[in-house]
Amino acid sequence: MEKIRLGIIGASSFAEAHLIGIAQCKNTEVVAVCDIVEERAKKMADTFLIPSYYTDYHEMLARDDIDAVTIPLPDQLHCQATVDALRAGKHVMCEKPMALNMDDCRKMIKASKETGKQLMIGQVCRYTDAFVKAKKMVDDGEIGELFFVESEYAHDYSKIGGIGNWRVTPERHPIIGGGCHAVDLLRWIAGNPTEVTAYANNKVLTDWPINDCTVAIMKFPNNVIGKVMTSVGCKRKYTMRTVLYGTKGTIVVDNTSPTFTIYKEEFRGEDTYCGADQQRVEIRIPVSVNNHNTQAEIGDFCQCLLDGRPVPTPGEEGATTVAACLAIVEAAKTDKKIKISYDF
Ligand SMILES: NC(=O)c1ccc[n+]([C@@H]2O[C@H](COP(=O)([O-])OP(=O)(O)OC[C@H]3O[C@@H](n4cnc5c(N)ncnc54)[C@H](O)[C@@H]3O)[C@@H](O)[C@H]2O)c1
Repeated sequence: MEKIRLGIIGASSFAEAHLIGIAQCKNTEVVAVCDIVEERAKKMADTFLIPSYYTDYHEMLARDDIDAVTIPLPDQLHCQATVDALRAGKHVMCEKPMALNMDDCRKMIKASKETGKQLMIGQVCRYTDAFVKAKKMVDDGEIGELFFVESEYAHDYSKIGGIGNWRVTPERHPIIGGGCHAVDLLRWIAGNPTEVTAYANNKVLTDWPINDCTVAIMKFPNNVIGKVMTSVGCKRKYTMRTVLYGTKGTIVVDNTSPTFTIYKEEFRGEDTYCGADQQRVEIRIPVSVNNHNTQAEIGDFCQCLLDGRPVPTPGEEGATTVAACLAIVEAAKTDKKIKISYDF
């Protein structure tokens, strides 16, 4: 394959991020877009110079000049559209969260296995410059051994219910829909959590049928403790502030700052104000700010297809993150410690 011809299922707000990313990718072109609302499909086709548009994705999938599709549809629709696309012989890059329950995740993995078509889940934080650099430092042993990791997904949803308010349902629990970013990030850095306790409340978006804030404490491999906070009602700028504590240093990083901070024992030096035993010296490392680096993400997806390599976040990775998120929901609901099983 020398070039990837893409279709987009869903002329959603986030499809624009896909298209802006794709425009900068080599050897890829978008040949069609589909949305059940014709006006939205047409507008996207006109704006992004896409040659054709559809209102029924099955018609689009019947074309044999489309190699792959991206699926930026409401979360509830990921499974059916992904399975249909895979069974129509297309590779798929499906938005996060992979799905809202494990049955759907299993169906998607099964369809990918049976068709031999690749399925990638868009865990876009794995392409955020600051997080990529932080993970590399941890992997290189720069902060010693991890002992505590924390991340948060703090994002005011009061004005973003999604078209038709598809985010405003209990099944689209914020920890799965948005908190999956923070859970996936910690999993990527510290491994798969094994058990969790959690608390949740609903004090801001009181007219939404969800808990808008959840805090989870998790056990990670190698006796690492982890914490994830998700709030979709908070009054602050969107952030995924993340702190990685190691035996020899600490990294403080987020997705919206132009620098991230590292503290290390050897940076300590003399400090006349606090005394030499205080670690006050921080190094700020410049990073590019792009909290939705869809260019790198979709570029990677297409390059894997061009090279015939497996994608980096296949269905199993997306499903592992969903399983951890569902365990958090259950822990908060039952007030019990939940063992996380990765059974798919
Ligand atoms: N990676 C990220 O950080 C990130 C950020 C935002 C959104 N997202 C994800 O992107 C996806 C889309 O979210 P959004 O807020 O952009 O959506 P949106 O509400 O803006 O748009 C949804 C679109 O889907 C269309 N649609 C519904 N059913 C359809 C069908 N059967 N066939 C074709 N089109 C159909 C609707 O008409 C609408 O245009 C979600 O999965 C969301 O979680 C990811």
